[in-house]
Amino acid sequence: MAKMPVSITVNGQRYEREVDPRLLLSDFIRHEIGLTGTHVGCENGACGVCAVLINGKTGLSCLAFAVQCDGDEIETIESLGTPSDLHPIQEAFWENHGLQCGFCTPAMVLTAHELLSRNASPSRAEIIEAIGGNLCRCTGYQTIVDSIEQAAEQMRAGKEEAA
Ligand code: FES
Ligand code: FES
Repeated sequence: MAKMPVSITVNGQRYEREVDPRLLLSDFIRHEIGLTGTHVGCENGACGVCAVLINGKTGLSCLAFAVQCDGDEIETIESLGTPSDLHPIQEAFWENHGLQCGFCTPAMVLTAHELLSRNASPSRAEIIEAIGGNLCRCTGYQTIVDSIEQAAEQMRAGKEEAA
């Protein structure tokens, strides 16, 4: 099958490639540009581990072809923090044991990031609703919700301090 040109901005950097029209966005992110923080589980939209931000909104990268994202802006977990300088959401997951194996964590953190960017003070019910499409086999979810609640508090306090 003829390859197609695609231009996708990931974490602020534009990537231009010739790709198979059936290449999934998740495979583009992991294999074409080597950002393996985006995980792949079911590949049919059921588990949520492949979630990234597509033009600022959470989207499942296993359900989109890369060519459908031509011109789009994607944000992956690699855009948030570093091991020595964690983002407040990552810090809160660390402090509240919001992860065990970590397989679901990049998508959970990005989902929280999207939620907190549009709602700085989500209720517990709103947090639970936001992560409703993200499966976690390890934690039982309570510590994930605790983590997002604490991240929201810390991010609000950080904004007040900066004001
Ligand atoms: S890998 Fe995309 S939803 Fe499961
Ligand atoms: S921490 Fe293992 S799947 Fe969530």
